[in-house]
Amino acid sequence: MNRKYRKTIIAGNWKMNKTPSQTKEFMNEFKSMMPKGRWCDVAFCVPAVCIPAAVRAMRETRVGIGAENCNANASGAYTGEIAANMLVDAGCKYVIVGHSERRAMGETDMDVNAKVKAALQAELIPILCVGESLEQRELGLMEDWISMQIKSGLNGIGEDKIRKVVIAYEPIWAIGTGKTATPDQAEDVCRNIRTVIRKLYGAKIARAVSILYGGSMNEKNAHDLLAQPDIDGGLIGGASLVPAKMVEIIHAANQPTD
Ligand code: 13P
Repeated sequence: MNRKYRKTIIAGNWKMNKTPSQTKEFMNEFKSMMPKGRWCDVAFCVPAVCIPAAVRAMRETRVGIGAENCNANASGAYTGEIAANMLVDAGCKYVIVGHSERRAMGETDMDVNAKVKAALQAELIPILCVGESLEQRELGLMEDWISMQIKSGLNGIGEDKIRKVVIAYEPIWAIGTGKTATPDQAEDVCRNIRTVIRKLYGAKIARAVSILYGGSMNEKNAHDLLAQPDIDGGLIGGASLVPAKMVEIIHAANQPTD
């Protein structure tokens, strides 16, 4: 983390878990446990039908609510899809874009780029996910792959908008497996991502962009991951479903830094 130059963000990704009633229960429990005083930015990205319950429960707090996906189009004949401006109107602040689970369902780099643009256009904060498979890591293709994902995800996004984008590095082999990247492994990739952004937009902007780590991050390993200089927070799946675990991770994000 580097709180001087950029925000620390702890964001939950609930994936396809919890009903609207369970969302209300969770949020009320979480609210009663929230740390007092100053803390980092906190967000929960929840299933679309849970957004109203989450927004309602968190109205008087600083916790932001987000969606897990959006459509790249502003409106039209896209049965079952949800546009970015609808999410804004429902009270969302964030949207996850390009999660590996959605890429595995066929989302391409071009789709991801169009969604990032649609989110920014609607004034949502896109959390752009990138990450390599185990095979790519073992073959030594990781750096080029992630650099390509960042460049294509940010293609056509100007300097005025890039500051609003949050990046999440999520190695596919670490997601939902209990196998976390070591702090050094995660830091290496996050530092490389910042280098790619520096080459695209310059040092000042690269310094200001928050880069999160995701992949089996939990209340036990968060402290060491977040102690790394280029890891500015977490995108948390399983552990974000348990209020006490999220609270512990938020405490880890409040650790002293230089
Ligand atoms: P887990 O924390 O369950 O591994 O999920 C990570 C993730 O995919 C967050 O987007």
